[in-house]
Amino acid sequence: MTYFSTPPLDERFIEQVFQSSLEALRATREQVFGIAEAARDELNRLLLLLDQVQEETNQCIALVEDLERKTREARSKLAAINRDFASYTETEIREAYAVAERRMVELGAAREREKALRQRRDDLERQVKHVRQVVAKADHVVSQVGIALDFLSGNVDTLAERVQGIKFQAAIASQVIRAQEEERRRVARDIHDGPAQLLANMALRVELLERMAGRDPEQLHRELRGMQDAIKSSLRDLRRVIFNLRPMALDDLGLVPTLRGYLDMMREQFGLETELTVLGRERRLTPTAEIALFRIAQEAVHNAHRHSRCRRVKVRVEFGAQGVHLSVVDDGIGFDPKRLPEKVVDRERGFGLLHMRERARLLQGEFRVMSEPGKGTTVSVRVPWSMAEADASGEGTTDDPRAADGGAAASDGQGELNADVDHGAHRR
Ligand SMILES: Nc1ncnc2c1ncn2[C@@H]1O[C@H](COP(=O)(O)OP(=O)(O)OP(=O)(O)O)[C@@H](O)[C@H]1O
Ligand SMILES: [Mg+2]
Repeated sequence: MTYFSTPPLDERFIEQVFQSSLEALRATREQVFGIAEAARDELNRLLLLLDQVQEETNQCIALVEDLERKTREARSKLAAINRDFASYTETEIREAYAVAERRMVELGAAREREKALRQRRDDLERQVKHVRQVVAKADHVVSQVGIALDFLSGNVDTLAERVQGIKFQAAIASQVIRAQEEERRRVARDIHDGPAQLLANMALRVELLERMAGRDPEQLHRELRGMQDAIKSSLRDLRRVIFNLRPMALDDLGLVPTLRGYLDMMREQFGLETELTVLGRERRLTPTAEIALFRIAQEAVHNAHRHSRCRRVKVRVEFGAQGVHLSVVDDGIGFDPKRLPEKVVDRERGFGLLHMRERARLLQGEFRVMSEPGKGTTVSVRVPWSMAEADASGEGTTDDPRAADGGAAASDGQGELNADVDHGAHRR
């Protein structure tokens, strides 16, 4: 058999990898930036040099032109001497030849220099072009890396959030399994301590009655009365266990009557003052929506009873234009939802609010807990009709649940109760 195990998600490790990639990218950007800066310096140096060389070339070209003119003059002089040799002294003739020769040499040297300067200028121009390209490319890389960095750094938070979200879902899943086990344990204990004990007891008492029969009718009568009371109380226990497992009224009658029954039971059993208000046209919802809304209300009322020391709990169900809105408001001591422990893993208690939120999420509902110490608590869930509407296959009503209703705009003033505080500890 093959066993599959999913390695645990470690968001710190993923974030470290992400951060070191970001660091590497930042270092790369710095390096490329350095290259671009060096190339820019080199470009400035080359441009300066090019200016100088160009200036020298211009001067050299002017010199060559001047020397060409002078050489032409010297040659004309020699031609004149040759035409009229007798009119010139020997010194004049020698001088004229010497000048012509010097001019030729000077011109040759100047031309060589001009050629060399032109070559140097062309070389420099090529280098300038190349270095300009390097600067442009480096600048481009710097800006591209910058964009990538901006994008990635913006995503670090999102990534961490996503990983946390996945871990949160995984924790919820394992908690659901634990909650199931816990529920079974509780049901087993309730049946064991209540009805099962009673049946065992009954068996003994019936044996006793058998022996007593005909001997002491008075005693027999009392015993039977006692047994009757015990059976009734055990029946109540059994009904409570069954109700907690799955309120049958929910399937038969729907959300509102079941809630009414539950609130009546809380009043009878614990003396909790409760009030149920229904707004809009009451109608059946999908079984999933009905059980989810019922469980949310049940947990909220249970929390109010257990934690809030309230005098009264108001439950309101509004069949509105957009969907169903359920709220549970108590006038108890309240609490700060932001101060609930962050970690859901390895927690023994404190799953009520998480489960409510999860049930609402599965229905694409909006779940809010508004509370402040000393100012009571409001739990509110809104489920859109797209998720709550009973279909035409017999699940509840076939009426159009989106029909306008007069109660949609009504309010019991719960908004005044508290500052609008989200259940921060569970917001991911
Ligand atoms: N109506 C309320 N009034 C005052 N405090 C509340 C109320 N609802 C919840 N709390 C506080 O929020 C905590 C978390 O509630 P939650 O239902 O998640 O867990 P729990 O009731 O402690 O345990 P569990 O529901 O898992 O049995 C409670 O322990 C309590 O301190
Ligand atoms: Mg609870």
